[in-house]
Amino acid sequence: MAASVTIGNSQVTSTPLGLGTNKVGGHNLFDGLKDEDGVEVVKAALDDGIGLLDTAFMYGLGRSEEIIGDVIKDYDRSNFVIASKAAQDPDRGLKPNNSPQFLKQSVDSALQRLGTDYIDIFYIHFPDDDTPKAGAVNALADEKKAGKIKAIGVSNFSLAQIKEANTDGQVDIVEDNYSLVHRKAERELFPYLKENNISFVPYFPLASGLLTGKYSPADQNRFSRFSADQYSAIMKAQTEVKKIADNHDATMAQIILAWYIADPDISVVIPGARVADQVHSNAKAMQIELSGYEFDQINGLYDQF
Ligand SMILES: NC(=O)c1ccc[n+]([C@@H]2O[C@H](COP(=O)([O-])OP(=O)(O)OC[C@H]3O[C@@H](n4cnc5c(N)ncnc54)[C@H](OP(=O)(O)O)[C@@H]3O)[C@@H](O)[C@H]2O)c1
Repeated sequence: MAASVTIGNSQVTSTPLGLGTNKVGGHNLFDGLKDEDGVEVVKAALDDGIGLLDTAFMYGLGRSEEIIGDVIKDYDRSNFVIASKAAQDPDRGLKPNNSPQFLKQSVDSALQRLGTDYIDIFYIHFPDDDTPKAGAVNALADEKKAGKIKAIGVSNFSLAQIKEANTDGQVDIVEDNYSLVHRKAERELFPYLKENNISFVPYFPLASGLLTGKYSPADQNRFSRFSADQYSAIMKAQTEVKKIADNHDATMAQIILAWYIADPDISVVIPGARVADQVHSNAKAMQIELSGYEFDQINGLYDQF
């Protein structure tokens, strides 16, 4: 079983695999979601020992947090970590607001929806254009002193914004778009994060399902952000990942998730799920140990990204 991880300079610890919950109640982001499936997804995670639930106000405009709040009533709160986020302000047409007053209100309303008295990790979900970032983080530091949150995060911040936010060394964790086929953060953010003991959580780790191996060359139009050459390189890499998966009697998604777990630059990997079976399957990635050779091989398969 993979070892637990500590979040930045905080006291928060987590399993290295969490659950992304933008498809739990995220009716404003995805079509055809059912709340009942969301409930089962969260239960599956907690039943399988997944120790971090990543949510946000933006996922269903509070619905994801409410569903999680309902489910966790039946679980021991000390056994898992909740990460939530805020910035999108309904009074600004959901444009980001990082003002201290808005962030503090957001912590309070998230606590209420989650039905808990602390949130382990609270992220500023997106930067706004005007609030000084150190001031925004200071507002969360007040919430930390008050015991309402335990660790401070920022998400979708540029390196310059992260540095500004971390002026007083109070940022514990950064969440950003990163996967084997989207590796910009490795070059742009990782050196500063490592130097400052800030944890990194990648979102879209499965490239929205593309890295699970369930798509074929015919599905390229679903992934228009990739050129034809890039898409065909991903399809080619998939054949090699399948061989590694077969050797471990595992799925391709499990192997890709095991790769992130093995990467010391990554703190917690938070694949999303639409249904509970995906969670049960992904949770098994915590039991897979890749050899150094396999780790390097997978790294090399996607090195052009
Ligand atoms: N901070 C931010 O701004 C931000 C932005 C985006 C996401 N996030 C967070 O990051 C999390 C992860 O991102 P994501 O969920 O969008 O993308 P992802 O983890 O790359 O992909 C998740 C999707 O892949 C499919 N999938 C998952 N496991 C599977 C399996 N075993 N077999 C087949 N298909 C599988 C499911 O979609 P289908 O069944 O529909 O194919 C699932 O919803 C989110 O849930 C959210 O918590 C944060």
